[in-house]
Amino acid sequence: MGLQALRGTTDVLPNDVTRWSAVEHTARRLARLYGYQELRTPLIEDAALFLRSVGETTDIVQKEMFRFEDRGGHEIVLRPEGTASIVRAYLEHNLHKTQGFVKLFYLGPMFRAERPQAGRFRQFHQLGVEAIGSDAPWVDVEVITLCVHILRECGVTDAAVWLSSMGCRDDQATSAQLLRERLQPDLAKLCKECQARFEKNIFRVLDCKHPTCHEIAWKVKGSPFVLCDQCQADFDTVRRGLTAANVPFDDTKVFARGLDYYTRTVFEVRAKGLGAQDAVAAGGRYDSLVEDLGGPHAGAVGFATGIERLLMAQTATAPAPSRRGLYLAIAQSTLLQEAFRFVQQLREQGVIALMDYDGKSLKSQLREADKSGCRFVAILGETEMTQRAITLKDLEQSSQQTLPFDTFVATVAQQAKSRECH
Ligand code: HAM
Repeated sequence: MGLQALRGTTDVLPNDVTRWSAVEHTARRLARLYGYQELRTPLIEDAALFLRSVGETTDIVQKEMFRFEDRGGHEIVLRPEGTASIVRAYLEHNLHKTQGFVKLFYLGPMFRAERPQAGRFRQFHQLGVEAIGSDAPWVDVEVITLCVHILRECGVTDAAVWLSSMGCRDDQATSAQLLRERLQPDLAKLCKECQARFEKNIFRVLDCKHPTCHEIAWKVKGSPFVLCDQCQADFDTVRRGLTAANVPFDDTKVFARGLDYYTRTVFEVRAKGLGAQDAVAAGGRYDSLVEDLGGPHAGAVGFATGIERLLMAQTATAPAPSRRGLYLAIAQSTLLQEAFRFVQQLREQGVIALMDYDGKSLKSQLREADKSGCRFVAILGETEMTQRAITLKDLEQSSQQTLPFDTFVATVAQQAKSRECH
């Protein structure tokens, strides 16, 4: 057996790239519509960044980071998520001083050394947004609405938004204490990991996959979070805002997020048909993270969706792409140079133009033209060379016309563009 891609990584072959690009294009377009600007950060970061943000007791940091030392002995990780890097960049480039409130969009590969299974990869791709520098709950509404809007336009129609509030840091301390008291009688039955997390990160028990922990967690009916007046008022605003924006949500589900930086609003979008890994997108507020990473107070909220899972959750398939461009077939290889000249001129006019360079028969060139999805086919042979005119077939309209050489390129360009710019 030859070399293969590593477990949990995938090649995206040309046919699938069309679906990927459609998702990326839709997300970029909608992010722009809501006023989010794209930011790109490196794939490698200082390990300390994720210890201080995602949290030392989380699965991501404890078990799932690809960590290595560089030659200088620095601990480096392949980024497991985007939020921490975005906040680092926000602080490093002083965006808090120059811009105050910023709305950022990002897209790219993330890495987690998880056990691969359907919908769970070691290299996966997220697209997401982060709005940094505002405490206003209406920003939460905007972020969740944008998330749902992107999923819907990408064909994910069968999804539910689970919404909750974890409260501020003070609320979380109170809620943790109350939860500890409720779970104390079952402490000995919890798995080793949950026992270890009992003091430091009790909320993780709520989404532990161990059957006994799961059963114990089930007994915790309703949200384990008690909210102060301000957090309760903000949560009410988020719910009212989503209702106004026509975004249905379910605020009765108990769930915990696997990253430590969250405060107040948290949400997950669960899609049908994804099996065990049914969170297609997730996010929430992280009002302390900017400060925790050495900045001023800056409320923030964001979300990320996994592109692989989004593609798996698509229920509405995109319409088949319409035929585009032109295939120039040649009757004999002595006409290669003449044909290439036309093809190049068409490309410079923005028309997809294809031809054969291998001396294939006319028949197989025409078969290839059909397979390539070109809208136009033209044949260049001796007769065309003598008459200085070429016959253009429009496969979509099932029509044909003969064009003189000197107007051929301009006419094709004009006809191709009139239909392709949509
Ligand atoms: P997360 O829940 O860890 O949150 O990941 C967000 C989404 O990334 C998941 O809902 C899922 O679609 C996808 N995802 C995560 N892990 C994998 C994996 N191993 N394979 C395939 N897809 C995966 C975050 O990453 C937060 N940074 C989200 C956020 C942004 N919160 C605030 N701003």
